[in-house]
Amino acid sequence: MSIQISGAFAKNISSAKLRLDVHQTITALAKAAIEISHLCARGPLDTDFGSLAGSANSDGDAQKSLDVRTDEIITSALKGTPTAYYASEEQEGIVTLDRDKPLAVASDPLDGSSNIDTNVSIGTIFSIFKARQTAEASFMRAGREQLVGGFFVYGPQTSLVITAGNGTELYVLDREEGVFKLAIAKMHIPKDAHEYAINASNFQSWHTPIRTYIEDCQLGAFGPLQRKQNMRWIGSLVADANRILMRGGIFLYPEDTRQGYENGRLRLLYEASPIAFIIEQAGGAATNGQSRILDIELNTLHERVPLVFGSVYPVSQVKTYYQNQVDS
Ligand code: F6P
Ligand code: MN
Repeated sequence: MSIQISGAFAKNISSAKLRLDVHQTITALAKAAIEISHLCARGPLDTDFGSLAGSANSDGDAQKSLDVRTDEIITSALKGTPTAYYASEEQEGIVTLDRDKPLAVASDPLDGSSNIDTNVSIGTIFSIFKARQTAEASFMRAGREQLVGGFFVYGPQTSLVITAGNGTELYVLDREEGVFKLAIAKMHIPKDAHEYAINASNFQSWHTPIRTYIEDCQLGAFGPLQRKQNMRWIGSLVADANRILMRGGIFLYPEDTRQGYENGRLRLLYEASPIAFIIEQAGGAATNGQSRILDIELNTLHERVPLVFGSVYPVSQVKTYYQNQVDS
């Protein structure tokens, strides 16, 4: 299996040795993704597909068998690559693979896992950093220090969206050849678009800025936004992000008043940071509603963050709602 990495991808990583290390690690992740995509494609033909593993991950989410299986696949794929440390959403602590190696990898091995048994796109999100002196220090930093951010989508196409800080690229798996091929060399999110994505069932729990913004979206041409807005919510972050990369729009998973949702639902390290890197590199924006995601320092491995990303204009509009609205 090989993955074509274009010049644009490699250019931003200055040292040839580091470029090789990153390439080797991404190739291993791409192999793992092909295996995971086969599992997803077989679906209910494998008896324990989508069943609960009977455990919860470190965030208290119910783990499905496939969550656990994908985490094992990625852990074993990273062994033998230049990866010193692996941090997974599905594991409590950091896994030390070989502390002498130069890289640290974080991953949400199976994003959107509530969609596993519904035949809806799910994916694997990952982030690569230069390893530091200790396992902890390798991840407790701001997302802007990522070498690479990426995600695989297991959907009608198995694809890879990736950035190394010099634009965002889309690769699609050619199943006949078993190769990820470059499909879009420079993804570009339109500056403005009329589509929003949010789990509207949480309306009663939102704070005033988000509640007002979504009310205004719903008012469409009759409200202050003065135009019809369309709504989409897939429930798999990777799939919603992929749509926004293709045609723009805004995604919101804000903080709310439910217990455990004080900082939203999504994890800074495994989800928000790599998505923010990819989105910014495609010309979009990613904030916690007010501040840039990539400037937020990680303090605890599994911490959550409110996440608002997509086309630059609506993301900046949401910021003005935070600035102008007094909370209830
Ligand atoms: O991984 C968390 C996740 O499944 C995301 O993929 C998705 O965007 C979100 O949670 C869906 O959350 P909810 O079930 O609250 O709509
Ligand atoms: Mn996830």
